[in-house]
Amino acid sequence: MRLSVVGTGYLGATHAACMVELGHEVVGLDTDAAKVAALSQGRVPFWEPGLDAVLQRGLDSGRLRFTTDPGEAMGARVHFLCVGTPQRADSPAADLSQVNGAVDALLPVLDAGALLVGKSTVPVGTAAAIADKVRPTGARVAWNPEFLREGHAVEDTLRPDRLVFGVRDPGDEAVLREVYAPLLDAGTPLLVTDFATAELVKVAANAFLATKISFINAMAEVCEATGGDIVTLSAALGMDPRIGPQFLRAGLGFGGGCLPKDIRAFMARAGELGVDEALMFLRDIDDINIRRRQHTVDLAIEALHGSATKRTIAVWGAAFKPDSDDVRDSPALHVARALHDAGARVVVHDPRAIDNARALFPDLEYADTAEEAARGADVLLLLTEWRDYTGIDPADVLPLMTTPTVIDARNALDVGRWRSAGWTYRALGRPTA
Ligand code: UDX
Repeated sequence: MRLSVVGTGYLGATHAACMVELGHEVVGLDTDAAKVAALSQGRVPFWEPGLDAVLQRGLDSGRLRFTTDPGEAMGARVHFLCVGTPQRADSPAADLSQVNGAVDALLPVLDAGALLVGKSTVPVGTAAAIADKVRPTGARVAWNPEFLREGHAVEDTLRPDRLVFGVRDPGDEAVLREVYAPLLDAGTPLLVTDFATAELVKVAANAFLATKISFINAMAEVCEATGGDIVTLSAALGMDPRIGPQFLRAGLGFGGGCLPKDIRAFMARAGELGVDEALMFLRDIDDINIRRRQHTVDLAIEALHGSATKRTIAVWGAAFKPDSDDVRDSPALHVARALHDAGARVVVHDPRAIDNARALFPDLEYADTAEEAARGADVLLLLTEWRDYTGIDPADVLPLMTTPTVIDARNALDVGRWRSAGWTYRALGRPTA
């Protein structure tokens, strides 16, 4: 089938390349000429494990190309909308300018046989509004939310937990069944529903995941007040199959381009719909999450005996999570910048995200290796739990430090190993660890 994919960020670039794997012919559209040029040459403009190989296979097949010209989407049977929906600068609501821009750009190429399929995370009601807008072209609209995680994008696209089709017509369901035929044949569960439910599945899933993380971080606060150990508490909770162990890792909390802005946009939309009380609890989820960042800053200053001024702080990790170079709303960089603002010299290392971090926070110092970041530091902060760090021998790093104190803000290090190597070890939610 001929497909177009509008927007070639984490979602769109992955979706475009993976649709070629499913046997389709795909044109990827983006307004960013540099991104289009990179992808056309087989270069993924961000770090996503495994995507480079899938992209190259797609280009080699002759069934994948990228362009800035919306005219080249003409004649595609399905157009996938994969643009970003960041938080607005002036409010917690979603900024739909990229969605609206993409639909406007497609209007001249849509024909009566085309299906416009939204994958972007949007406020409920957006699909219906887009359907009204494209009605004069005769094209139809469907909503097919995407649940991929950065760092696992290819696997999540080719082996998803479920597919959700929000459609108004059985014919549109049939088209989507054809697009995803190999996944459906492999047994991927499918839910067919209306527009509103399809849009809500995505934001509700992200609200639930955020809630699970903030729940365990709230328990970490209670552990800190009582001498309990959040790591053991979390392990015990996770053994109850009704609760499950996933997304119960306590620490610095969630960041990234999705969870923080999605819960805020969901609250804003609920307010517009007159059901703000139903989502009031998400305000607490957001607050608990942000409090973990401040608590980490406070722990660092405490370790420096009350003042960060002119002290050197080593930071391991800048990305919002491991296996990603994404620094959007990164808890690690939030903490690093706060300590810099408190007067410290902050030296940051990350295996993949240094360039993005430097572009955002040029005032921080950056080191090429984890060891170099630690050299001469008064305290070491582990803020993103890359395997590169958890595998380091603490005995090798200790002689580099001015004071061997580590704050493990992700509960990722082996406490026994670090302590027996001579470190003072502190962590979030583990006062007695
Ligand atoms: C998320 C959703 O998981 C995905 O389904 C959706 O499509 C997009 O948003 P992503 O933003 O890639 O994906 O990251 P995710 O793996 O969910 O992690 C989000 C944040 O939560 C990270 O900052 C991570 O460090 C943090 N996290 C995750 C925790 O603090 N504790 C946990 O137990 C799990």
